[in-house]
This record gives sequence, structure tokens and C-alpha cells, in this order.
Amino acid sequence: MKPHDTLPYTALPDYSDAERIARSRDFYDAMKTRRTCRYFADDPVPRAVIANAILAAGTAPNGANHQPWHFAVIETPEKKKALRAAAEEEERAFYESKAGKEWLEALAPLGTDADKPFLETAAYLIVIFGQRKGGINPGEMKQNYYVSESVGIATGMLITALHDAGLATLTHTPNPMKFLNELCERPSHEKPMMILVAGKPAPDATIPVHATIKKPLDQIASWL
Ligand SMILES: Cc1cc2nc3c(=O)[nH]c(=O)nc-3n(C[C@H](O)[C@H](O)[C@H](O)COP(=O)(O)O)c2cc1C
Repeated sequence: MKPHDTLPYTALPDYSDAERIARSRDFYDAMKTRRTCRYFADDPVPRAVIANAILAAGTAPNGANHQPWHFAVIETPEKKKALRAAAEEEERAFYESKAGKEWLEALAPLGTDADKPFLETAAYLIVIFGQRKGGINPGEMKQNYYVSESVGIATGMLITALHDAGLATLTHTPNPMKFLNELCERPSHEKPMMILVAGKPAPDATIPVHATIKKPLDQIASWL
């Protein structure tokens, strides 16, 4: 390919304004039913669902199209057990001393603590790495750009795709996360950024009321 080959952009349907309004409203209605879930069933979920959701995440906009991400999918009971043990060790230190009063107060309405049984019960643990070095071709070690932003957008699309497939997710960030490189057999230039727990919710799963309070439009947007 030449440096700047082009193609016509014909992918978007030409909806009417009314259709656009209806579709955007329907999408909002679907997205507002998403909640972070902390109680998972141990039911299996087809791998294809996760593969398709990761492919959707991989279409995200990103710095210079280097696609600076890697998704390590943990599905075996042994690996899940090892991840849970390591994460709970970090989490105990976090809740007992590292977090500080203000952070613990912010977390209190969510009811989280150092016990993470969902790390063993959920069907999949998707460990998301940002690649500081890479490039578009396999084996390249070029500088990557806007890694955090790119991985954040891709993760949002992954969560959206999984929600659309009827799966519950939990964005989990044990603090620190360096242990994930060894556990997932990833090189040191990759930075573990999040664990996305994915699966079916437990039949008796609950959500904290606190998480249902979302800011209204006039607090999160301005029109200039
Ligand atoms: C970067 C990030 C890290 C998070 N880390 C954790 C975590 O370690 N444990 C947890 O239970 N929830 C975690 N959450 C979930 C948030 O608590 C949750 O998204 C928030 O309370 C809003 O609730 P909702 O997702 O149901 O709308 C995290 C969310 C984000 C975006």
C-alpha cells in the first residue's frame, strides 16, 4: 500500500433526522441498563461472543492506528484462581493501608472490599494491556501514541459490545497490577490497565443504588 491510498467512505446509512433521533434514544435506553456487576454465575459463555466483542473493541479510534492494545482472555479455572489470589493480596494491602480515608469513603457506597470471589466464578477475565511500544505490523517496536486514551476508548467499546450481547461486566483494577504481566505472559513494555470480568450475572445479583445515580445532561454537557 502507498502511504496515502484512499477508499470512498460509503459505510454509513443515510437515516432521516427522525430515524437518527429514534436510534440515538433507543441506544441510550439500551446503554442505561448497563450496571457494573459484582456477582457472577459460573455458567459458560461461548468463546465466540468474547472474540466478537474484542474484534469490535479493536475497531476503536487510536493513536496513529498503531492499535496499542492486547486482550489476554483468562478462561481456565487454574489461571482464574491464580489471578484471584494475586489480586486479593494487592487488594488487602489497598483496603488496609494504601487507599487512604478519602478514597475509602468514596468507595463505601459501592460496598466493595478485598474479597473478589467473582474472579473465579465469572466465565472470563479479560486482562487489557496498553502497549507503550508496537506499531501496526507484528514484531514492530515503534513508539505508540495516546495509549491510555486509545485503550480507554477500546475498553468502552468492549463493554458496550458485551452489554449488547446480554453479558454483565465489571471493570476491576487491583492496585498495583504489575503481577498481571507474568500471569498473562505479556512483555514488560505492556502496561496492564484493567481486568474486565465478563459473564452471566448471578440470579440473585444486586447493584448498589449509588451506581444508579447518573448526572443529568445539563451537568455533563454545555452547548456553545
Ligand atoms: C477505571 C475503572 C476502575 C474500576 N475499578 C473497580 C474495581 O476495582 N472494583 C470495583 O468493584 N469496581 C470498579 N469500577 C467500577 C465502578 O465502581 C463503577 O463503574 C461505578 O461505580 C459506576 O457504576 P456503574 O458502572 O454500574 O454505572 C471501576 C470502574 C472504572 C471505570
